[in-house]
Amino acid sequence: MTHTVLTGVVVPGDKRGRELGFPTANVELDDSEADLPPDGVYEGWLEDSGGTRRLAAVSIGGRPTYYGEHGARLVEAYVLDFSGDLYRQRVRVGVGSAVRGQERFASSDELIAQMRRDVEAVRRVASARA
Ligand SMILES: Cc1cc2nc3c(=O)[nH]c(=O)nc-3n(C[C@H](O)[C@H](O)[C@H](O)COP(=O)(O)O)c2cc1C
Repeated sequence: MTHTVLTGVVVPGDKRGRELGFPTANVELDDSEADLPPDGVYEGWLEDSGGTRRLAAVSIGGRPTYYGEHGARLVEAYVLDFSGDLYRQRVRVGVGSAVRGQERFASSDELIAQMRRDVEAVRRVASARA
């Protein structure tokens, strides 16, 4: 599937992702939100400033679990099998097929369980394409 490609710089998040076990690269987009795909969780990739592209679970939305209806829309990428530091790097994020919509979970544990399933879904989509 064709990916929408977003570009921006990785900025600090709330650090909650690390606590949840799913650290994300929060991407401050170069362009306005006009071209942004709808809120949801997507199969995708993140390409670092050195040009290395890695599989990612991409979340677009206002983090309703924590901020209700009023959270600022963010583009976040959880890069699979990666533990490096992307902070301040200019990156490209490919947004592929949607895995699901954004949901408001009753607890962090429920969000974590769902993110585990999201990662498996991303791997399935990627291996089906390979
Ligand atoms: C694969 C994935 C799926 C996500 N899905 C949701 C979701 O359905 N609802 C939600 O409130 N937040 C979702 N998030 C966003 C998390 O709430 C967010 O990454 C976490 O709170 C850390 O935020 P921080 O980077 O600002 O610290 C998702 C994040 C990822 C990586």
